[in-house]
Amino acid sequence: MTIKTCIFDAYGTLFDVNAAARIAASESGRETLAAVWPKLAEDWRSKQLEYSWLRTVAHRHIDFWQITQDSLDWAMEASDLHDNELRARLLAVYKELPAFPEVPAMLEAVKAKGLEVAILSNGSPSMLVSAVRSAGIGPYLDDVLSVEEVRTFKPHTSVYDMVFDRFGRSQSEVLFVSSNGWDAAAAAAYGFATVWVNRNGLPVDRLYGRPHRILKDLSSVPELV
Ligand code: LAC
Repeated sequence: MTIKTCIFDAYGTLFDVNAAARIAASESGRETLAAVWPKLAEDWRSKQLEYSWLRTVAHRHIDFWQITQDSLDWAMEASDLHDNELRARLLAVYKELPAFPEVPAMLEAVKAKGLEVAILSNGSPSMLVSAVRSAGIGPYLDDVLSVEEVRTFKPHTSVYDMVFDRFGRSQSEVLFVSSNGWDAAAAAAYGFATVWVNRNGLPVDRLYGRPHRILKDLSSVPELV
């Protein structure tokens, strides 16, 4: 089946989630953060995902921006960082996360092949609008789909259903691209052709689906469509 629609996860896939802590740590006067930023970034991300899954299971939805703040608060306390100005700065950078370097050219090439291109993300609409604008990738996207429409998080199948509701394509006509192993696994089980972008050489998640292709970064995605 020919791929007609290419769907990208946002955080970790198009946008570098570790960049908020890394960028803030490089600023002058932030020696305390500089000493711990990799742990802060890892705790922040893992708690953010954990809270999204737990709230889905418990039917206690709040939007991803609130989850991002709650998980940052946990991560800052775990690193003994008690600094409201730093908290505000980290959140401000998170709202304007840089895209990975290969992203704009890759999206342009996929779009040039005539495919529909969209983001499907846990992010709240305002987070996504801000990140897409600051990365300058809006011109290559047909849509930005936020889970807020269904008020639950990935990997709930109602999130992947949003692709059919928007584009009307069968699952096998959709290429789904994610750097989150669990997201790629769930999307593969759902029936999408799936690429897992494994930037860190991690093992494949032992879940209920397996990605069809594994890439080191996004640059060869246009060759797959
Ligand atoms: C997203 C999360 C999974 O963008 O990073 O949906």
